[in-house]
Amino acid sequence: MPQFAGRPETYSHAPHRIALIGFMGSGKTTVGRMVAARLGYRFLDLDVLITENAGKSIREIFEEDGEEAFRQIESDALYSVREMNRLVIATGGGAPVRQENQEFFENLAATFYLEVSFEEFLSRTGRDHARPLLDRSKKQLEKLYKSRVPIYRGLGQRIITDSRKPQDVAAEILKKLSVV
Ligand code: S3P
Repeated sequence: MPQFAGRPETYSHAPHRIALIGFMGSGKTTVGRMVAARLGYRFLDLDVLITENAGKSIREIFEEDGEEAFRQIESDALYSVREMNRLVIATGGGAPVRQENQEFFENLAATFYLEVSFEEFLSRTGRDHARPLLDRSKKQLEKLYKSRVPIYRGLGQRIITDSRKPQDVAAEILKKLSVV
């Protein structure tokens, strides 16, 4: 029986692993740090782990090795944390898309989907050079956004983030984890 099968709305005790998923600019890192601090858990940003493993930035991996190579490093990094306990992990926006990564979000972590609207994503991220996907046109980004929303919704408990402070988003997650 998978640990988190059926994904309860609330938890009677904090799970070993908490994953935050969502599109770029949804606040996964900021909120994840807050949730981890409150729980006394370790916080990990999967993108940081990837850059440490690869010895170069996300943009460099995309430009020198290509997106597929990045996705493989991302899957390997996620696999490497699958047994860590007392962990809050913020994953890059594309991590939940690959089927081989989905078991982690479905069965090995309590997963929360931080939902940001497309318009708010645009205003939060601007033209951040560190994020190679932002080189795409607005139309391409909207298509990507729309293709991912159903995946995120299928894997995580949805938490609205538009017009909300990260503290409030973190508080909602902690409440669902029965930590107040
Ligand atoms: C990506 C999101 C980024 C990073 C990479 C690809 C994506 O992470 O993993 O640039 O495919 O959405 P953030 O969601 O933390 O920006």
